[in-house]
Amino acid sequence: MPKARIAVLISGRGSNLQALIDAANDPGFPAEIGLVISNRPKAAGLERAAKAGISQETIDHKDFETREDFEAALNDALKIAKIDFICLAGFMRRLTDGFASDWRGRLINIHPSLLPAFKGLHVHERMIEAGVKLAGCTVHFVSSEVDAGPIIGQAAVPVLPGDDADMLAARILEQEHKLYPACLKLLIEGKARLSGHTVPYTNDVAASGAVTNPPTT
Ligand code: GRF
Repeated sequence: MPKARIAVLISGRGSNLQALIDAANDPGFPAEIGLVISNRPKAAGLERAAKAGISQETIDHKDFETREDFEAALNDALKIAKIDFICLAGFMRRLTDGFASDWRGRLINIHPSLLPAFKGLHVHERMIEAGVKLAGCTVHFVSSEVDAGPIIGQAAVPVLPGDDADMLAARILEQEHKLYPACLKLLIEGKARLSGHTVPYTNDVAASGAVTNPPTT
């Protein structure tokens, strides 16, 4: 079976991009990364793409008057690169309803909380402030509402006594790097299917590594 072609959209350091690059280096992984797009010219993640020999483009949102114009440029680049699926990985632009619906079922994101709790920004600080005892990350389909689309997979981590936001972020990030490739694989293999507003929790999903409880030790 030919490999699915993935675009990864970034705005910053790109550690999740790196996790996807590493996963795709395994010959058994069902996807190849065909394109990395950053909306910020100085995103450190661009260097990771360059090092891996992956095509990359900067499409700076500041060069466009409207979100629609920016997204038209994204779509042109995605079409030229024959992209099948898009992974948002620290991509800091809100996408329009039109873009989300054009790519419905083929556009996913990773977020550093157990959604639907703690949508939005400054998540780790807010979790520490709220005194939660369990945290984690979520991979979900992108819908028009930010951080609200159907959930594909989640990994939970404990919040430990004395944690600050950075310590918690590092513990979650370690799980993000495992969760994102596992969920992408599920999606490409057709095992994470949209059904209305959810992805049904099947045995395939449970067995895939896309749902992880916190370590008990
Ligand atoms: C990650 O925590 C991701 O969950 C969130 O933005 C951060 C991006 O980090 N959406 P990186 O650029 O992948 O290192």
